[in-house]
Amino acid sequence: MISRTTIDSVFETARVEEVIGDFVQLKRAGSNLKGLSPFTDERTPSFMVSPSKQIWKDFSSGKGGNVVSFLMEHEHFTYPEAIRYLAKKYGIEIEETEQSSEEKEQANERESLYVLNEFAKNYFHTKLTTSEDGIAIGLSYFKERGFTPETIKTFELGYASNAWSDFTDHALEKGYKLEYLEKTGLTIVRENQAGQSSNPIDRFRGRVLFPIKSLSGRTLGFGGRILTTDKKTAKYLNSPESEIYHKSKILYGIYEAKQEISKADNCFLVEGYTDVIQFHQRGIKNVVSSSGTALTPEQIRLINRLTKNITLLFDGDAAGVRAAFRGVDLILEQGMNVKIVTFPEGEDPDSFARKHSLEELSEFLAENARDFIAFKANSLAEESKNDPVRKAETIHDIIQSISKIPDLVKREVYVRECARIMEVSEEVLFGTLAQLLQKEYRESQKQKKQTQPFQVVPKEEHEVQEVDVQYELEQKILNLLILYGTKVVNFEDWVLTDEQDQNSYEVQNTTYKVFEKIYLDLQEDEVAFSNPEFKELYAELVKHLAQSSDFEIMTFINSIPPNLAQIVSASLMDEERYTLHNWEGKGIAVIHKEDVVSQLVTQTILSLRWHLINKQIDELSKDINDSDEDKDEILEEIMNYWRLRQMVAKKLHRVI
Ligand code: CTP
Ligand code: MN
Repeated sequence: MISRTTIDSVFETARVEEVIGDFVQLKRAGSNLKGLSPFTDERTPSFMVSPSKQIWKDFSSGKGGNVVSFLMEHEHFTYPEAIRYLAKKYGIEIEETEQSSEEKEQANERESLYVLNEFAKNYFHTKLTTSEDGIAIGLSYFKERGFTPETIKTFELGYASNAWSDFTDHALEKGYKLEYLEKTGLTIVRENQAGQSSNPIDRFRGRVLFPIKSLSGRTLGFGGRILTTDKKTAKYLNSPESEIYHKSKILYGIYEAKQEISKADNCFLVEGYTDVIQFHQRGIKNVVSSSGTALTPEQIRLINRLTKNITLLFDGDAAGVRAAFRGVDLILEQGMNVKIVTFPEGEDPDSFARKHSLEELSEFLAENARDFIAFKANSLAEESKNDPVRKAETIHDIIQSISKIPDLVKREVYVRECARIMEVSEEVLFGTLAQLLQKEYRESQKQKKQTQPFQVVPKEEHEVQEVDVQYELEQKILNLLILYGTKVVNFEDWVLTDEQDQNSYEVQNTTYKVFEKIYLDLQEDEVAFSNPEFKELYAELVKHLAQSSDFEIMTFINSIPPNLAQIVSASLMDEERYTLHNWEGKGIAVIHKEDVVSQLVTQTILSLRWHLINKQIDELSKDINDSDEDKDEILEEIMNYWRLRQMVAKKLHRVI
């Protein structure tokens, strides 16, 4: 961990205009500086930096914040990464806390491996572009594949000669340790029959090399392709797993693509190194590859940091489509939107991009991108058209995917859509969904019991299955109370004009303090917080907010139990991230500041209500399946909730 003192001195030293100046050309504009937004493609500058306030604001994307949040947004650094970057830029020594000597040693070793890989990358790249055999063999191979010199430079492609130990010899000569050469996998040391180490040899020989980089651009390992069509040797040889190279956590091309991924708010996922490079060269740069393996949760998280949208590009054959179905549930689970494009038979992204212009390629992608769930429902429906048994399986299969989507609104839309595609009633699908969630919940409980024998707190069944969404919403409500509790804001109230008719209402504007609005709305619905600590904190907050005219957060923190104080301070720390989008409290000019808060509050309360109503409906649907009695009564109740839900949906629509 970086010490508090280091963080403080970084903040004291760093100048927002200097840091941003490294990425954006800034010009004076009064007391501020102005430039072109690095987050959108704009022609007239709307990106502002205030040296006096030490903040920035991008009016075209709505982003804004301080020096650290700029690095987090622009370079996609984590908080510690941003602090480290700034410390390095300003020559501040980083003081680490709580690091044992063992941890220090490990950090040093990792650093040494990075440095060595950097050296190797440059060595192989120079070989490719300047050595005789590099040019004759490696470079001409890449040229044949249509890679331009610029592309070769961007991806820092390399060449490893056929000799046994050219690279290792050179590295040893330069003073790199054999131990690290072995640990990166660049060098192989074998034992001979007598048990002695033989001469070290290079792992990559007679191959062209693709350096594999981390999000922040460090070289983690290499992929090497043979140049012959020798069927006996594997086409690609990759660096072995090491302390810095974990195949399952890396995506090829992520460093070169990250800016474009967040700009385009979409990430194309292809299968191989050459697909990435060919796309990039053609001008579509928001593209990465999982290097021939199924996507892992870590890789998805990597993309998730940059965008919520992912488009899978697959070969059009049956195997390709089937491969596409696997693993997608993992992506849906992380709340991402998945689209799929299949290429014509016999084409892959590499070959297709080579044959077509940027316009043609873009048009092809736009026209052929299909929503994944709809795509899956369509192709499964087609397969099982005349086979009822198969059809039942198929419904299960598709509902399985839908059940992974954390967003309830989206889930519902998909159920509707799939009912239409598969020609079954929505009720059947909702019923199947409820059953599935129920089953999953039971299984997760069973597992919990097995792994945590001492957990004795029994929880209401269905309460837990979606506890994450609820937890988040409750947390958000607390956040709003902490940040804006006493703010006076204009809210829209819906007032029924005819008691009998849910559809006749009037929208009235009323002014409340934020905490009053939240308190009244939640009370009206008798919504209680499910997390006990949140519940307690909520009560404390409302009490304090109502009592004191000038609510002081620090006084409040000191007056509540430590476990609650911890939640409050965590939420204040989180404000950094939070205010990237809600720039309240940063003194940044927002035209309708009040509207933003009002919207946030309304949206959050409605989302919580929406969530609770859905939970209720799920539960009742399950009751219908389970019991033989009272079906009518339960149905009546379900209908009531449906009506209520429609109302909430309407309001939510208005806010969003
Ligand atoms: N791959 C691998 N090891 C192999 C074969 C493939 O690691 N023996 C990975 C590589 O990352 C490769 C990806 O799987 O890029 C896709 O494989 P493939 O389609 O066979 O390779 P291409 O990238 O298309 O390479 P090329 O066009 O040069 O044949
Ligand atoms: Mn290929």
